Amino acid sequence: EAGLPSQSSPLSLSPVILTQDDLKKIAAYKAVEFVESGMVLGLGTGSTAKHAVDRIGELLRQGKLKNIIGIPTSKKTHEQAVSLGIPLSDLDTHPTVDLAIDGADEVDPGLNLVKGRGGSLLREKMVESACKRFIVIVDESKCVHFIGESGLAMPVEVVPFCWKFSAQRLQNLFEYAGCVAKLRTEKESSSRPFVTDNGNFIVDLYFKEDIGDLKIASDKILRLAGVVEHGMFLDMASTVIVAGELGITIKHK
Ligand code: 5RP
Repeated sequence: EAGLPSQSSPLSLSPVILTQDDLKKIAAYKAVEFVESGMVLGLGTGSTAKHAVDRIGELLRQGKLKNIIGIPTSKKTHEQAVSLGIPLSDLDTHPTVDLAIDGADEVDPGLNLVKGRGGSLLREKMVESACKRFIVIVDESKCVHFIGESGLAMPVEVVPFCWKFSAQRLQNLFEYAGCVAKLRTEKESSSRPFVTDNGNFIVDLYFKEDIGDLKIASDKILRLAGVVEHGMFLDMASTVIVAGELGITIKHK
């Protein structure tokens, strides 16, 4: 397949080492095989989803897909899709999405996800909760035994008004799990807050211990005034495509 890394070469017996980006591309291309002409598609955000959007653009250009309408999950994906000539719409006009394809930061064995380390969790959750089928594409490094296991952040989008107060309340909620809440900044070296596409801030939660029941954790976070949305995507993925050194695994809900 054009553009896809080949796993073996006829001229050489030495194994091809696949990079993490190769694996992301393999998962993305596999997901795009599920796209059919005439679909309304949720277009994800991040380095894995970018490969899927590129591929959709390529197939449209080649005439192998027709009458696709994309609903982008971020300003960045919107720009990418426009540059590829993908016709776009929004949830106001197309409230039902046939299929969404997006990456994730963590995937647990029950196909629960953490998303939003790229900062687009709110629009992603709006689009992906409106779709009939949600295909998640990841390289194998994203698969965890439990949410939070990677030790990386679980993002929460908060309104800028009194964000320190919100961050403190979030940290207090998960004191039992050794939670530390940090405001996301534009760069590690800068103190300027990262601002989401919706004009909000992100508070990243780091846990030392398992947070326990995810549904309870989700409800507790969403009950805090000042919180807009969090990055746990529970019971939303229909299919997860995992690309690893040994091949592709497809998990269904
Ligand atoms: C952005 C996201 C991304 O899907 C997630 O961060 C995965 O990103 P990548 O594909 O670059 O590893 O949720 O908000």
